[in-house]
Amino acid sequence: MADLQKEGGLDGGLKRTLGPINLISLGVGAIIGAGIFVITGQAAAQYAGPAITISFILAAFACAFAGLCYAEFAALLPISGSAYTYAYATLGELVAWIIGWDLIIEYALSAATVAVGWSGYVVSFLRDFGIVMPPQFTASFGQPVTLADGTTAAGLLNVPAVLIILALSLLLVVGVSESASVNGIIVVVKVAVIVAFLVFGASYIDTANWTPFIPEPVEPGRYGYFGILRAAGVIFFAYIGFDAVSTAAQEAKNPQRDMPIGILGSLVVCTVLYILVALVLTGIVDYRQLGVPDPIAVGVDAIGLGWLTFIVKIGAIAGLTSVMLVTLYGQTRIFYTMSRDGLLPPLFSAIHPRFKTPYLSTMLLGLFVSVVAGLVPLGILGELVSIGTLFAFIVVSAGVLFLRYRQPDLPRPFRCPLVPWVPLASIVACLALMSGLPADTWLRLFAWLGLGLLVYFVYGRVHSKLQSRRA
Ligand code: ALA
Repeated sequence: MADLQKEGGLDGGLKRTLGPINLISLGVGAIIGAGIFVITGQAAAQYAGPAITISFILAAFACAFAGLCYAEFAALLPISGSAYTYAYATLGELVAWIIGWDLIIEYALSAATVAVGWSGYVVSFLRDFGIVMPPQFTASFGQPVTLADGTTAAGLLNVPAVLIILALSLLLVVGVSESASVNGIIVVVKVAVIVAFLVFGASYIDTANWTPFIPEPVEPGRYGYFGILRAAGVIFFAYIGFDAVSTAAQEAKNPQRDMPIGILGSLVVCTVLYILVALVLTGIVDYRQLGVPDPIAVGVDAIGLGWLTFIVKIGAIAGLTSVMLVTLYGQTRIFYTMSRDGLLPPLFSAIHPRFKTPYLSTMLLGLFVSVVAGLVPLGILGELVSIGTLFAFIVVSAGVLFLRYRQPDLPRPFRCPLVPWVPLASIVACLALMSGLPADTWLRLFAWLGLGLLVYFVYGRVHSKLQSRRA
């Protein structure tokens, strides 16, 4: 633990330059992505109808509680590796491995999800200019598509999603990571596009579209109260990314005051925007028409402002690109740390002599994520990312409780308020959102975690630095 704190530069390695506004901007940059631009429409169409607005409020509560726990953990050990590192130092290797393995869902698969969303907006943008890509090559494997002659066929590969992941991975290999100023510009663009949609869309709301606000259930999880809960689990995806703020704890001017402001502030900004988008979108278009790859653009089309559609699509494409870059980058850093601990093969921490980046790991990751993005539909991916991240938040919240009890005197730059109530509320809220997700999604999570345990006992445990030190 002391070693890790030192490595994190607690002795004053990094400069403390970030104030509350910078931290909120960092959070908003990592949060706003495919969740609001794509999944909102699909969750409204399939699960909640106009009551998707309530789903956003439910998910925001879970995030707020989990965010406070995350902040305590992050301030304790502000080094790369995210929740994996915190768990490694405090809860032991096996728990850390489980979290690290689970974070592959949160990072790598969320990059894949966002890539599929990006593809939807790019295809729609090109179509506006008369460039029509063959539908089989813009859809996931086996997904039904309608061809130009009106016949249907099965999708083969989402080519734009594959290409964007490969391109961003190459950028990361040569070391182009986003600078704070680029992030700042993209945040402004994303927020401006959303605000423009709200401002222009508000006057076109037809309240008939909100009636009934909670559609009658047609089957469990499809509309009705359970549909709201399911949609909350699904659109939880839209809030993922606020943990990016916690990784900057070491660079915050005043972590005790600014970490909660950064985390909760970015959550508040996004919650307000998300609720308003949900209201306007379901107010201008019948929710049944929103199950498309570019629902916000469909909303703008409905009010007949062609120039705004153009701007919304550009904003979505730029905004989603930055989210992919941040998540792919984060994933390679988690792999790096796990490899340095001996839990993953050394190639995951091999650094390129000239570019000084973990190039092999980045290329392997790029290949894996591009294959997933090319073949798997957005709905399946998004739900898996949600459940995997909720699970990680539960482990982190339990870790905060455990550590308060085991090591009460540890210097904590930020203390989660109202312990044990906030961590307990976080665990209950995350479990509630998980309970709304379909059985298939649970099965995929269990299969992934089971595979992870197998990898740990076959590889990690044998090569672990911690175990060899003990021996
Ligand atoms: N919250 C991020 C998004 O919506 C992952 O794309």
